[in-house]
Amino acid sequence: MAAEDNLDPLTTAAGAPVADNQNSLTAGPRGPVLLQDLWLLEKLAHFDREVIPERRMHAKGSGAFGTFTVTNDVTRYTMAELFNSVGNTCETFVRFSTVAGERGAADAERDIRGFAVRFYTPQGNWDVVGNNTPVFFFRDPLKFPDLNHAVKRDPRTNLRSAENNWGFWTNLPEALHQVTIVMSERGIPRSYRHMHGFGSHTFSFVNAAGVRHWVKFHFRTQQGIQNLTDDEAGVLIGHDRESHQRDLFDAIERGDFPSWKLFVQVMPESDAESYRFHPFDLTKVWSKKDYPLIEVGVLELDRNPENYFADVEQVAFTPANVVPGISLSPDKMLQGRLFSYGDAARYRLGVNHHQIPVNYPRGARLVNSYHRDGAMRVDGNQGAVPGIQPNNAGRWPEQPAFAEPARAVGGTADRFDFRADDDNYYEQPGDLFRSMSGAQQQVLFDNTARAIKGARRETVERHVANCAQADPAYGEGVRKACEAIGAL
Ligand code: HEM
Repeated sequence: MAAEDNLDPLTTAAGAPVADNQNSLTAGPRGPVLLQDLWLLEKLAHFDREVIPERRMHAKGSGAFGTFTVTNDVTRYTMAELFNSVGNTCETFVRFSTVAGERGAADAERDIRGFAVRFYTPQGNWDVVGNNTPVFFFRDPLKFPDLNHAVKRDPRTNLRSAENNWGFWTNLPEALHQVTIVMSERGIPRSYRHMHGFGSHTFSFVNAAGVRHWVKFHFRTQQGIQNLTDDEAGVLIGHDRESHQRDLFDAIERGDFPSWKLFVQVMPESDAESYRFHPFDLTKVWSKKDYPLIEVGVLELDRNPENYFADVEQVAFTPANVVPGISLSPDKMLQGRLFSYGDAARYRLGVNHHQIPVNYPRGARLVNSYHRDGAMRVDGNQGAVPGIQPNNAGRWPEQPAFAEPARAVGGTADRFDFRADDDNYYEQPGDLFRSMSGAQQQVLFDNTARAIKGARRETVERHVANCAQADPAYGEGVRKACEAIGAL
């Protein structure tokens, strides 16, 4: 029986009948209210705790369940059981999001979009916690809290601040690639259905013979790319702040299931030493000519959650969710994220967040973890099984067959300045700029000018100078557009 078809009478959380849900218990018809109105106290106390912390970034989002189907044989690269046969299917959950806005923010804002995919594989949950852009603003996780403060509200005015935002970005020249994408015509997707997704970082595949390859993940929309202009977005937000949520929910309800094809770029392990771009630098892409896209499968979303809070709000993705055959890379940003997401989940949802159904590894053949106790342990807590290993029963041994091949790392421990290693910030944003038509370049100039307006003159000049390093025409175009609207 669906929950909404349940017409049984009302009870308290403890299961006792509720006699009156309209009138508080008072001393006389005009009050005051008595402290012994147990139902009133329970109802208010629960309501007082309904809100949980919103995600520090990506607070506004939409989610849906679906199916991933393997369409191509990639077993020469990975031993992940998910990929061991063409035709394999796997339940998935996807959460799309905007980044800077709070939980109640409008959807159609100029911003990156989050694109987080969970695969409930037979070997546990695998999460690709990506974005709709293949790069990011910087290369060191120490800068992430600063980015958050730059794009969120000013501590005094409580307003978003062009100066906080652009003062930060322009002082990090490696941000130009990401900034160029966000200011381009792709900076406001029409909906979550009309954009690609990227794992962005370099990850690794390990095959059954223990051979490692570096990989990038690409989800390519089968709905086609569609975007909104600043003007279109302004009008849309004026009458619908939830346009992405509505679009995704309605499409799935009417059976128009959105889908994405998953591709990988694959780099032999040893190429990382000599590739002309640092392959673990999140501000750069790998050329598709050097490493072409290889199809892997198709992701289709076909089921809306019955309850938004239960699944979309409570889902806790983490790039640390990997399974045998799919693993990490030395990317410093990825390494920082491996800590941050589990930590955020323990704060936002609690230490036992793995038990929440959307987070439970529901596709896994077995879940035999020795973790015990903690707040909200509701699954029986492994019953009478002693939480000890090794033990005389030989219970729950580790699985050395899944150990990753060793990888040499080394060198001197220090706080290395990546700028000394690579100061090539401008080549790829320049290539991106030159790949645009004249009309697309003009859109980039105008979007940039509107977004940066309000920042200090020195900030705007710095941005113009950074753009000019990428391409003189880029700098010139941004300068003219800024002058035309009084941003410079
Ligand atoms: C959300 C940290 C970089 C994609 C979050 C959250 C944190 C965080 C704390 C909230 C998590 C939660 O409460 O459940 C960081 C740090 C980064 C980083 C420390 C860099 C060092 C990135 C990058 C990407 C990304 C590079 C994409 C390639 C996402 C997505 C979400 C998210 C998609 C929302 C997940 C969801 O839908 O629940 N990030 N992030 N982040 N981040 Fe990051």
